[in-house]
Amino acid sequence: MAAAAIAALSFASVPCREHQLRHGASTFNAQQFSASSSHRHTANLKSGGPRRLRAAKRVIVAQAGTGRYKVAILGAAGDIGQPLSLLIKMSPLVSALHLYDIANVKGITADLSHCNTPAEVAGFTGKDELPSSLAGADVVVIPAGVPRKPGMTRDDLFSVNAGIVKELAEAVAEHAPGALVHIISNPVNSTVPIAAEVLKQKGAYDPRKLFGVTTLDVVRANAFVAARKGLPLADVDVPVVGGHSGATILPLLSKARPKVPFTDEEVEELTARVQNAGTEVVEAKAGAGSATLSMAYAAARFVEASLRGLDGDGDVYECAYVQSQVVPELPFFASRVKLGREGMEEVVASELRGLSEYEARALEALKPQLKASIDKGVAYVQQQQEAALN
Ligand code: 2OP
Repeated sequence: MAAAAIAALSFASVPCREHQLRHGASTFNAQQFSASSSHRHTANLKSGGPRRLRAAKRVIVAQAGTGRYKVAILGAAGDIGQPLSLLIKMSPLVSALHLYDIANVKGITADLSHCNTPAEVAGFTGKDELPSSLAGADVVVIPAGVPRKPGMTRDDLFSVNAGIVKELAEAVAEHAPGALVHIISNPVNSTVPIAAEVLKQKGAYDPRKLFGVTTLDVVRANAFVAARKGLPLADVDVPVVGGHSGATILPLLSKARPKVPFTDEEVEELTARVQNAGTEVVEAKAGAGSATLSMAYAAARFVEASLRGLDGDGDVYECAYVQSQVVPELPFFASRVKLGREGMEEVVASELRGLSEYEARALEALKPQLKASIDKGVAYVQQQQEAALN
């Protein structure tokens, strides 16, 4: 009966602290989010005895509603937005889920609202309803925009997605100025600086609250390393730094946990695979878009981590593309960050020390590309402002 409620609680109640303390990773991991964990609880319900009582109690808590955070998804009807909305609907930390898009929101809202998990779902269609979708949001996630087709780079999306992100960031500045903002829309290397400039212009910029979602690079690195080295998935944690496009994506295999040796060939092969993983999906989908399911999974993991930080869990770390000084010439850079009550509490700069020679070279090599993408985003907002003044 209450499979969804049980599943929702299972990713909150599975004790993961040990893993988190060892690796600093989010508790929103593959183990917790696998079908097997909800199956285990379903089995408990059937077997009777004390286990049955424990499981039943969890269901009651789920139905009463334990979350207290409002999450708004801008672009909720899209191919990333829909599975992302479903995953966030399963979070026990969420009390309200606001779905915004320019069309097709009504049906998705009705559909999702039938899941018996605590978050109340509300739909908002079209620009007139954008302000209400943002009111009181603790976290705003932006997957809106167009995806890549084969042969395109993420930067090829700039001409369309830059304007979309600018407009949505303006609305966030006005209607949800204190919210954490998670940007998924590509090219993330430029759209995050765009959002930062817009928020600055509106007097609503807090660098602790603006994130480019790069969790998918970590998810991919963890999956590929686990498969390659025959390691249990839940044990693997690979930090990924830099940006979110091609060579700017830099998995730090020398810092991977558990400590395992990699040959030079493995380093080259795994690094290239992580850097090209998005393109691997774009090509496999052959014109039907880019990564949506894994992107939604990764973005939901980042939302969950952020909410845990807001909720006072003092030990939440994820990699994200943020304003940072760890590489002086790059004002935005993806690093592992500590998440807390105000958003980003700290950039873990130490992870960039003691890199392997390969990583140090790759870091040097990515700098011009990442700098150009950052500058392009900043210049775009300035040009738009000048155009508006003339
Ligand atoms: C990816 O890395 C969609 O940017 C996303 O596949």
